[in-house]
Amino acid sequence: MAELSGKRVVVGVTGGVAAYKAAELVRLLVKAGALVDVALTQSGGRFVGAPTFQALSGRPVWTDLWDARPDNGMAHIDLTRGAAACVIAPATADFIAKLAHGFADDLLSTLCLARDCPLLVAPAMNRQMWEKPATQRNVAQLRSDGIAILGPASGEQACGEEGLGRMLEAADIFEELVGSLQPKRLAGRRVLLTAGPTFEAIDPVRGITNPSSGRMGFALARAFRDAGAAVTLVAGPVELAAPRGVRRVDAVSAEEMRAAVLDALPGQHIFVGVAAVADYRPAGAAAHKIKKSAAPLTLQLEPTRDILAEVAARADAPFCVGFAAESRDLAAYARRKLEEKKLRLVVGNLIQDGLGGETNAVTLFDAAGEHPLPLGDKLNVARDIVSHIADMIDPCTV
Ligand code: C5P
Repeated sequence: MAELSGKRVVVGVTGGVAAYKAAELVRLLVKAGALVDVALTQSGGRFVGAPTFQALSGRPVWTDLWDARPDNGMAHIDLTRGAAACVIAPATADFIAKLAHGFADDLLSTLCLARDCPLLVAPAMNRQMWEKPATQRNVAQLRSDGIAILGPASGEQACGEEGLGRMLEAADIFEELVGSLQPKRLAGRRVLLTAGPTFEAIDPVRGITNPSSGRMGFALARAFRDAGAAVTLVAGPVELAAPRGVRRVDAVSAEEMRAAVLDALPGQHIFVGVAAVADYRPAGAAAHKIKKSAAPLTLQLEPTRDILAEVAARADAPFCVGFAAESRDLAAYARRKLEEKKLRLVVGNLIQDGLGGETNAVTLFDAAGEHPLPLGDKLNVARDIVSHIADMIDPCTV
């Protein structure tokens, strides 16, 4: 089933060049099954016209507070009734100021004030306008009013300047919106995860690592955040950006990752070891680059410490989840890991095409048995894993 099927979303478009990205956002929402009502301000319409949004949404576009179409003449009330969310993209500095002060002098500002659904705002403006104390005050006010601020991003701006103020890309806004609609089943919980590979130095320029992309761990961090948890992510060396609102701690070696985990552990309710932590590291990295010669080179390896097993063995252990990526006998290895490391849940996957792919087929192993999850992209698999953990945690206190 499409992610947003049966949901109605109101997209508000105000007057900024980034309005062109709103067209793409509407397309993504419609593709995900949402019914999209676009409300366009007068200046928004100067950048992208109503016919574009009408064609993309397949529905009439709303521009006028005095629109006579609704029987009761109250588009400003009706539009958000029953809507899953309202997202303003782009939101100009002027519109943000209006929102912060509760102005209601056109259709979009009035429907925002009259709304009965969550509001998300994607600012777009010149960097000086973004940095001004007035804008920052207004944005802080929106945050404290419970409005989600998405971005802005940093980069090249339409005016030719560089800096913070660019609107997020449509795909990022879409993802934030979908995330905000997830049930907050883990609200009030704190979750610690590890993700990615580790890198164990052989000498100053070489090391032992593995092709783990970190994507599964980052997707899980996002899924936990979307479920309302406070998330800390200890990441090995990967290029990925941490999801908004997730506290990220970087680590390179297994030993650094262990130290970061132990440091962040107090007060955590759930610990998930997703990282492909090296099991062995060179016994003593060479201080200088090892020079090549015709003779064979033997590296002495020593075992690293198992972070997950150490955390799970503590008297005050949180709810511990491990991953088992195996090339054969998945069920047997996963069950053994569950018992030996004293875990509550093991997420097992049979590696056929190596680590680091886009999709994942996993089976969950817990005390109740085996639960195969449907094949999906890593974010959907992550959401299923989080929902299984929430099912396990709900009846008891962790
Ligand atoms: O025993 P094995 O390495 O197969 O177990 C994998 C699980 O243990 C993963 O959840 C991984 O994150 C965790 N692990 C760990 N520290 C290690 C090795 C593995 O936390 N040194």
